Amino acid sequence: MARIQRDYPNNGFYGIGIMHGKHDHNIGTLWRSAYIMGASFIFTLGRAYKQQTSDVVNAWTRIPLYHYENIDDLKEHLPYSTRLIAVELDEQSISLATFKHPDRAIYILGNEKNGLPEPVLAACHEIVQLPGSFSLNVAVAGSIVLYDRVAKSERTLPG
Ligand SMILES: C[S@@+](CC[C@H](N)C(=O)[O-])C[C@H]1O[C@@H](n2cnc3c(N)ncnc32)[C@H](O)[C@@H]1O
Repeated sequence: MARIQRDYPNNGFYGIGIMHGKHDHNIGTLWRSAYIMGASFIFTLGRAYKQQTSDVVNAWTRIPLYHYENIDDLKEHLPYSTRLIAVELDEQSISLATFKHPDRAIYILGNEKNGLPEPVLAACHEIVQLPGSFSLNVAVAGSIVLYDRVAKSERTLPG
């Protein structure tokens, strides 16, 4: 039987989450960006999310919001053939400007106070860094990474 050739509008998917997020308004802001920029899911790692007004689109009602206990839990449930990308200021990092986003990716950000700990960085396939030598707000950093992914792809966004 002949195979039917089809063009699919989007190749791949991505999720984004924060480890031990401290301020719910930052988490809510990131979820809002994630939904608008086409994330397939969002997650918390180590600290569950309480609903927050900065997530004005209520992203968790539109795409799944997962919770993982720790990085091992996340790695155990990583979708097949999906890259885990740490977003962090780090000597090992790749500059976002030259980073080629994998088709299937999970982006993980650190919290407002401590950033991502070394074992989590080591557990990730890649680390990406935004320009500048100072930390940005976590929701701003995450939103820029998402924008960069969208800008470098031809992904169709929701709505
Ligand atoms: C406010 S920062 C953490 C600051 C922490 N005090 C530190 O120095 O590691 C919160 C998170 O935002 C992300 N972030 C902020 N600025 C970044 C940058 N320039 N490049 C990559 N990630 C960044 C990282 O995920 C970081 O863990």
